[in-house]
Amino acid sequence: MKEIERAGARGVAAALAVISRASKTYARGAAEVAALVEVDLEIQPGEMVALLGPSGCGKSTLLNVLSGVDRLDAGTALVAGIDLGRASERELVTLRRERIGIVFQAFHLVPNLTAEENVALPLSLAGRRDPARVASLLARVGLAARARHFPSELSGGEQQRVALARALVHRPRLVLADEPTGNLDSVSGAAVLELLDELRAESSPSERAAVVLATHDERVAARADRRVRMRDGRVIGED
Ligand SMILES: Nc1ncnc2c1ncn2[C@@H]1O[C@H](COP(=O)(O)OP(=O)(O)O)[C@@H](O)[C@H]1O
Ligand SMILES: [Mg+2]
Repeated sequence: MKEIERAGARGVAAALAVISRASKTYARGAAEVAALVEVDLEIQPGEMVALLGPSGCGKSTLLNVLSGVDRLDAGTALVAGIDLGRASERELVTLRRERIGIVFQAFHLVPNLTAEENVALPLSLAGRRDPARVASLLARVGLAARARHFPSELSGGEQQRVALARALVHRPRLVLADEPTGNLDSVSGAAVLELLDELRAESSPSERAAVVLATHDERVAARADRRVRMRDGRVIGED
């Protein structure tokens, strides 16, 4: 028994993120929508986990909880050893800036910044500068020649690659990607994931970012280490 308890404690200590009995309800007019219902999820360092399920099943809510943007109504969310429910806004901002990288479905590049300024943004927000790192990531995603272009001068696929470089530039421990392939056909969707995988594979194994990726595309999810299947706010299975 003691052994099991110790093994359990070790597992939790080693995990990058631990979500336990997480519930979250939104008010919609007079009605309540259960976006998350007693969700349990552990993310180990360096693994890629796909959240799969139909629109409205709670994928984005779960990502928003992991990034500390949304707070739970019940249950706990631990990320990098921080209890997000108890953390101050300042602690959450620091966690997001230093440990988390986010890829949004609609890219969310800053329109009046160039590609290289967009990629450098997470570093600037953390008070850091690393032009060599920015240049190397831009080169890695095939956009060295586009560094001085604004998002409006880039194709959708190029903007997506800038967004990937930006999400990884500060060497986050956790990358959260909300349907990052949603606006692309499945061929470029697969390419985006391949690139994401290559970019994080450049770090040493102990520093490799874990990825939690929301998608409704089985072919995209097939590339992940684990698929967590959701429906109506619940985790209904895993493979
Ligand atoms: N800010 C919000 N206000 C009210 N309802 C919300 C809000 N965000 C999400 N929801 C509802 O919560 C449920 C889960 O949404 P979401 O996490 O966005 O699902 P998914 O990303 O899987 O499409 C849906 O029923 C959605 O309408
Ligand atoms: Mg969503």
